[in-house]
Amino acid sequence: MRTSLVERRSVERLLLLVGALRAGLIDALAGEAAPAGEAAPPSEEALSPAQVAESAGTDPRATRVVLAALAAEGIVEEEMGPDGEARYRLSPLGRAHLVVEGPDLERSGLIHEVNKLRGWLELPEVIRTGRPASTGMARQDVRSRALAMGERDPAVLAEVIDRCLTYAGPVRSMIDVGGSVGHLAREFARRGVKTVLFDREEVLPIAREFLGDEADTLTLLGGDLTVSLPPGPFDLVFFGNVLHIYGPPTNARVVREAFRITSPGGVIAIQDYLWGRGREAAMFAVNMLRSTDDGEVWTEEQHREWLSRAGFTEIEVADLETAGSQLVLGRRPAGL
Ligand SMILES: C[S@@+](CC[C@H](N)C(=O)[O-])C[C@H]1O[C@@H](n2cnc3c(N)ncnc32)[C@H](O)[C@@H]1O
Repeated sequence: MRTSLVERRSVERLLLLVGALRAGLIDALAGEAAPAGEAAPPSEEALSPAQVAESAGTDPRATRVVLAALAAEGIVEEEMGPDGEARYRLSPLGRAHLVVEGPDLERSGLIHEVNKLRGWLELPEVIRTGRPASTGMARQDVRSRALAMGERDPAVLAEVIDRCLTYAGPVRSMIDVGGSVGHLAREFARRGVKTVLFDREEVLPIAREFLGDEADTLTLLGGDLTVSLPPGPFDLVFFGNVLHIYGPPTNARVVREAFRITSPGGVIAIQDYLWGRGREAAMFAVNMLRSTDDGEVWTEEQHREWLSRAGFTEIEVADLETAGSQLVLGRRPAGL
């Protein structure tokens, strides 16, 4: 059989899943309808295409065709009803990945992936002009991106936290700059660290919703990190996947500001892709090209320069074992 450069069926599989999610078919199968981006409570009953269509408010013929495709993809299970008509229920795989809160949930992540494709479709224009295709994000896209961040792999979060604490020693206070919905910040709060989650004002309501009662265990602050950071001081100032959004002059300025709010003896930690240290960095840089004004993937040398010029010492760079990205660490000297 001929091999292809691209696994085309996985592109269609992604669009099928997100189409079914967005049209409400998955939630109709799972039980009562849930607001976009939220998981519905489980239902075990197998439903006919007509029942699913009625519950989702969709076209019966299209619903029947899509349900059969979801069955072929293993997302739903098909059985014959007493009338000889097919009935469908979510498979354990579909439920774990699209509905149930847990380590496998990737509902918002898949929706965010499809949102990103809009920008990728404009790539020829981006290459011609060197500018991102469209600026500004629709409200629902901000929401799915934030919730997609909340679905980050728990193993990666655990490794990042362990490495930060091993390097830093005891941490009494920390700020997660660009921390999105607080998926990492809450892990620090759970360990008794006085934690600030800092992100754009519009992300904070989504973070409150994601964190539920745990939101009260953190301080949530809104603002623009390129303008100023909350005063601190903090024993740990953390940037996760943020500096790739901005260009070197902005990053140098933000790192100087980070030094100002780090306690003497405290630590800066930057999780990001570093150019040339893994396969994923180059592709990720194209992602930034299509979505930001001057974001990209920056080198280890650039990170070292930003940190050392700001006054950080003992700079270390580690490749994460659980992800294709790196962790850059530096210390504000105790006497400064
Ligand atoms: C790619 S997400 C990373 C989220 C999280 N740190 C992680 O690694 O999972 C980048 C986050 O930075 C936030 N952000 C980007 N620019 C910002 C700015 N100028 N001020 C505040 N937050 C910003 C975004 O809203 C978003 O939540």
